[in-house]
Amino acid sequence: MKKRVTKAIFPVAGLGTRFLPATKSIPKEILCLVDKPLIQYAIDEARDAGIEEFIFVTSRGKGALEDYFDGAPQLEQSLKAKGKDDLLDILMKSTMDSGEIAYVRQREALGLGHAVWCARRLIADEPFAVILTDDVIASEKPVLKQMVDAHENTGGNIVAAMEVAPNKASSYGLLDIKEDMGSLVSVKGMVEKPKPEDAPSNLAVIGRYILTPQILNNLDTQERGAGGEIQLTDAIAKEIENSDNVYGFRFEGQRYDCGSKAGFLQATVAYGLARGDLSAEFMDFLVEAVESRRAAQ
Ligand code: G1P
Repeated sequence: MKKRVTKAIFPVAGLGTRFLPATKSIPKEILCLVDKPLIQYAIDEARDAGIEEFIFVTSRGKGALEDYFDGAPQLEQSLKAKGKDDLLDILMKSTMDSGEIAYVRQREALGLGHAVWCARRLIADEPFAVILTDDVIASEKPVLKQMVDAHENTGGNIVAAMEVAPNKASSYGLLDIKEDMGSLVSVKGMVEKPKPEDAPSNLAVIGRYILTPQILNNLDTQERGAGGEIQLTDAIAKEIENSDNVYGFRFEGQRYDCGSKAGFLQATVAYGLARGDLSAEFMDFLVEAVESRRAAQ
């Protein structure tokens, strides 16, 4: 019988230098999209997909993340006393139950593959998900749930994928397509951040994965790839040779690259406009701001 995907790894050890000075004292995963930290979007998506164990790969200076998931008794009591049930509700949704969350340290920044490998003992012999919190995806059905459903049919390894502008393709892991079946593609090769002339396609890997435990064994060799780092893409590519069970999944949804300033701003605008309590005022402001900016140019 196929095992259900109940564990997810969240690699959150990165330094977030692109967001300095904000990330000097807070982890980038705590940066807020409207009023929710990036990490909360990822947790919510994972929970909606049936994930029950949340594994964080952290590093020095990420303590604020652990505190974020803790209960906040003083705050809870004060909101209760004031009868602020709506706020209490929001607060409780960010609290994780004891035992459903685990932290593993990545001692050295050796790459995404290495970060995932750090969680190998907690994964053991089960399929697992990986979520990169930088990639925020707005969709009706959460993307990881879309992938879990697809995985029921395919088994094997599934990576989220989308077509990116050819001039941006070299910033991603790229898929070499064997058979294109629409939302699903079977993959005959994968390469991390190739030179433009070596790009097999512009179908890029986006930060959602469902992987077999074999990927963790592939990472045992600690082989360095693009940028001198241990790459997750390479470990998945090895599975194509070994088992031929790797698929790309063109998800439904709008992806924002919140690892870049421009992407973060775009997400802020999109999520702000989508919020019933903010959209009218925010839209008026945006229209006016854009018009006056244009007039001044
Ligand atoms: C990582 C992966 C890459 C993938 C990207 C998606 O790269 O290594 O294969 O395309 O995430 O966001 P990073 O952006 O962390 O350098």
